[in-house]
Amino acid sequence: IVRMTDLDLAGKRVLIREDLNVPIDDGRITSEQRILAALPTLKLALEKGAAVMVTSHLGRPQEGQWSEADSLAPVAKRLSELLGIEVPLVKDWVGGVEVQPGQLVLLENCRMNVGEGKDDEALSKQYAALCDVFVMDAFGTAHRAQASTHGAIRHAKVAAGGPLLMAELDALAKALDNPARPLLAIVAGSKVSTKLELLSSLVSKVDQLIVGGGIANTFIAAMGHGVGKSLVETDLIDTAKQIMADAKARGADIPVPTDVVVAPAFAADAPATVKAVDAVAADDMILDIGPDTAARYAELIQNAGTVVWNGPVGVFEFDAFGKGTETLARAIAASKAFSIAGGGDTLAAVDKYDIAGDVSYISTGGGAFLEFLEGKELPAVAALKQRAG
Ligand code: 3PG
Repeated sequence: IVRMTDLDLAGKRVLIREDLNVPIDDGRITSEQRILAALPTLKLALEKGAAVMVTSHLGRPQEGQWSEADSLAPVAKRLSELLGIEVPLVKDWVGGVEVQPGQLVLLENCRMNVGEGKDDEALSKQYAALCDVFVMDAFGTAHRAQASTHGAIRHAKVAAGGPLLMAELDALAKALDNPARPLLAIVAGSKVSTKLELLSSLVSKVDQLIVGGGIANTFIAAMGHGVGKSLVETDLIDTAKQIMADAKARGADIPVPTDVVVAPAFAADAPATVKAVDAVAADDMILDIGPDTAARYAELIQNAGTVVWNGPVGVFEFDAFGKGTETLARAIAASKAFSIAGGGDTLAAVDKYDIAGDVSYISTGGGAFLEFLEGKELPAVAALKQRAG
């Protein structure tokens, strides 16, 4: 992949695709992680003397329609503050953009453009015609084959990978291609079904696979234990058994909880009780891993060479059911392992336990992070490789 850092951008018109798809509540940005992650790329392009146009999507608006709720206006304002320069938001931009070297403009939500979602050829060419160099820096959207990702790369005079995208790819390669071992992955979340491909892919790579949340319940059931009223996917119990058998066949370990935290209901104020995993009653809901299990997992993390973390192991939004996730988060922060964390809920946990500074790499990707871990080639990355020859 041609890297933006290697290019001379002085006096060039540079269109940078970022993923500035940040949560906005009532006009207020509630997490600016993605803006902060993009900032070094934008500063570098300005330092290199480029005329900078930045494009991003926000949410999933209807194409062909402008609406205030889907506008990048709050992001333009925040970028102005962070960069210390005026960042105008350009509303109609597909036909041409006025920008001078040393200036940076933000282009309105690219998903408002007709044809963006279906990677329309004509629209991709229009994007490409806006610039001398197209920089793909939106790792979080690299799994989408759309006009502003895959399409513009194919048609731009010069297409390059931006520093953020390259850092993400480098970190993921370090974790998965030739990892310091043991390689431990934590895959948690409510459903096996949404992470089935991830589990199946990781089980062939890792030394230890910690499962948590609703996913763990299905594995607990596969071990023959009762899970009471817990979230469980009974139709996937056989799949969980197969994943455990696959792990065993290659000498990998899927440790299953020996104790759990249960409650009679899914609520912040529900009374929390620690029980042995074989003592879960018919009206119990498993909402976290127990302290013995958490300590055992923390020790595995302590001894790991590489840790990949996706998903909280309990209902950490409720403090009474957050101790398992907190223990693992602190173990990751304390471990010397190369650690990488990604996914929306995971980043919320990283924030809540304030360990961002102690994780080796925090991915800006949600779906893109998962697809990469699943071993899939991301379309935008494939297009960049193809352009590089
Ligand atoms: C994300 O938030 O995961 C990315 O910005 C991609 O958004 P999308 O799922 O709407 O394509």
